[in-house]
Amino acid sequence: MSAAPVTDAFDVIVEAMEPLTSHVTAFRLRAADGRALPGFTAGAHIRVQVGGDGNDWRAYSLVNLASDACTACEQAPDCYLIAVRREDTGAGGSLWMHTQVRAGDTLRIAPPVNAFALEADAASADAVLIAGGIGITPIASMAAALAARASRYALHYTGRSISQLAFVDALRALAGEHLHLYGDDEASEAQRFDLARLFTTLTPGQPLYVCGPQGLIDAVIALATERGWPRERIRSELFATAAPQAGDAAFEVELRQSGVTLTVAPAQTILDAMLDAGLDPLYDCKRGECGVCQVGVIEGDVDHRDYCLSVAEKCSGNVMHICVSRARAGRLVIDA
Ligand code: FES
Repeated sequence: MSAAPVTDAFDVIVEAMEPLTSHVTAFRLRAADGRALPGFTAGAHIRVQVGGDGNDWRAYSLVNLASDACTACEQAPDCYLIAVRREDTGAGGSLWMHTQVRAGDTLRIAPPVNAFALEADAASADAVLIAGGIGITPIASMAAALAARASRYALHYTGRSISQLAFVDALRALAGEHLHLYGDDEASEAQRFDLARLFTTLTPGQPLYVCGPQGLIDAVIALATERGWPRERIRSELFATAAPQAGDAAFEVELRQSGVTLTVAPAQTILDAMLDAGLDPLYDCKRGECGVCQVGVIEGDVDHRDYCLSVAEKCSGNVMHICVSRARAGRLVIDA
């Protein structure tokens, strides 16, 4: 397989588009055949076919801000709401959504999948929801789901400036005093997001849900781990493909099953090197989250960058995720 094949796609009509900020637009979608849509739970995403060539799909989280509408959304919603942040660089899916799609158009989508669901502990303990930028989309639905269950939670939402945060009015109405807004450019120190300060108010083990850019997720995981959180109490979803890091170097990887040795460039992943070589590895998210690309490690020292493996699994060095992890030094031999 290459990316997970889409076999159950169907058509939706873009019923309405609404700019939420200078960079974020909301899209309301209804089934083209007029029927109810497949249900979903908070944290779920759909995949939307973008670019018009039939092979390019982007994942967008489903937004449900109605605190009393969980049941309808979980069973048979009459519409989906997604929000897309325009990125002028990168692969262009969001740019296509912003510049080529208009109200009344037909889009092809794959049904909801949830890889970032609220676990049972979120409803029984004080859950902490942290969103960076467009990472608010699944987190907002989680807040609505917790509000519907009358659960205690706090929602911390940060971005460049508070005026550029999407869904703020609806979130204020939904979450009230549970909502805390921050902006990097705000003059008041109290309105700038300070993760270390936030953690001084938390108790290790509180369920943590974080969605946004990699820097935010890495910082939350690092601080929580340092302060004694069990890894299973920290759930994350990355809203970008993993970026190369400073100091990344080229290395060789031997694919023992395929009998091929490849050179992985500094800004390349093992997965991309395999795809460029015409191989057909399994993968889906390309962000180190879904676990689909996991392979066995036969030899070598792995720099693990995924969000799936436990610390013990990483220390064992027996498996790795080729969409993000690479050689710490020297050469890798993997079971692929
Ligand atoms: S493709 Fe999802 S973890 Fe690698």
